[in-house]
Amino acid sequence: MGAKPFTNPRGTRDLLGENLVLIKHLERTASMVAAVAGYQEVRTPLFEETRLFKRSLGEASDVVEKEMFSVPRRGSEGAEAMAKGFTFRPEGTASTARAYVQGGFAASAPLQKWFYIGPMFRYERPQKGRERQFNQFGVEAFGAQSASLDSEVVGIAVRFFQELGFDDQLEVRVNSMGDAEDREKWSQVLREFFAEQMQGSSERCADCQSRYTRNVFRLLDCKSTRCIELNEGAPNLFAVMGDAAASHHQQFIACLNNLGLKVIDDPSIVRGLDYYTRTVFEVHYPPLGARSALCGGGRYDGLVEEMGGRPTPGVGFSVGFTPTELALAELNLPAAADLADLRQQLLPQVYGVAVSDEQRDDLFILCEKLRRAGISVELDYRGKSLKAQFKEANRSGARWAIVLGDSENENKQIVLKNMQQKTEQIIAQDDLLAALKDA
Ligand code: HAM
Repeated sequence: MGAKPFTNPRGTRDLLGENLVLIKHLERTASMVAAVAGYQEVRTPLFEETRLFKRSLGEASDVVEKEMFSVPRRGSEGAEAMAKGFTFRPEGTASTARAYVQGGFAASAPLQKWFYIGPMFRYERPQKGRERQFNQFGVEAFGAQSASLDSEVVGIAVRFFQELGFDDQLEVRVNSMGDAEDREKWSQVLREFFAEQMQGSSERCADCQSRYTRNVFRLLDCKSTRCIELNEGAPNLFAVMGDAAASHHQQFIACLNNLGLKVIDDPSIVRGLDYYTRTVFEVHYPPLGARSALCGGGRYDGLVEEMGGRPTPGVGFSVGFTPTELALAELNLPAAADLADLRQQLLPQVYGVAVSDEQRDDLFILCEKLRRAGISVELDYRGKSLKAQFKEANRSGARWAIVLGDSENENKQIVLKNMQQKTEQIIAQDDLLAALKDA
């Protein structure tokens, strides 16, 4: 007996077969909805300097505090090595803002609309819909503060889910985090409001108590029933918001209404990352109950400057494939017809069968010729009997079998068998490609 077999790390998956069909469908749907809105694909590295994420997402965010996959920098020791180290990206916005600054776009072509699809890494407790490596589709638009750009981004998110088959129960829940100075004022009034709840034997959960000083907004999105009750009457940002942010929010909602989207004001949306300013939103599908949130995003007008660039506004969203897959399974989506072509790609078009071992080499050469012409071909490599090869041909789902026996081979012919209709004909090997292409 060898050693105990290795398994994949918790919170990761090996994707193949049917699972990969769905992922590929999500990928092409994402690329399509982004491309029609004029967004170009961007691919940034899977890891960045750790301090990039600390600076952009916020030291007090859950992601930075508890969920980073980090490695130390070689040549440094201890805390310094970690501080100067690298982290597998937990999300895509920070990297794209870094790439925007590094690419000098603010000077050359400030309006940039990008999308990305790829793996992100968060050291979370794996559970339904949450993994440690998961794919995200995201879009980020830099260089304009117009509320119509916020609505365009929301529209892409909604269209992604519509294309996957979600119906008109999709809703957009929106809020605003105001501008930097509004946030500052708001955090003060929130701290005053919650101060009493933090004293003595507080009924607030431990998370809220630790967030009170570090990121008081997060008390508003606590999911504990008692904390939700205690949030009743908490001051609203709109009471302290400046005119510019308030009018941006009104324009944003008007745009969404014009697009015919179902819009709901939701003051509990504060998002877990520090970079948000003004617009924040989530797309929900209420029939999914507690897991109705499908994606999230918002505006980050200070982020590019935070990354060392010129002041440049930005807005985007991202959606995790893992929760999307769960939602689709629950809703019996997407329609089988939408996946038919991808499923078909898993099947060979032709299966090559050698009547005896003497024909294997010539069969292989014939199969390679077909492959070079773009026809997918499978054949046996494990010395299976004729009967077992036919069994494999059936199991493979191939529409055609080509069968090479001694006499056909001598005459430069081959048997072409239609596996569904169970009909066959002998044709010249030179005509095989044309016959398959005709069929
Ligand atoms: P986020 O809300 O942290 O925002 O993540 C966006 C989406 O990623 C979530 O709605 C969820 O679908 C998915 N997700 C997050 N963590 C996990 C996990 N452990 N397993 C599976 N899926 C997960 C961001 O990442 C921002 N960058 C969004 C954004 C883009 N804001 C502006 N632009």
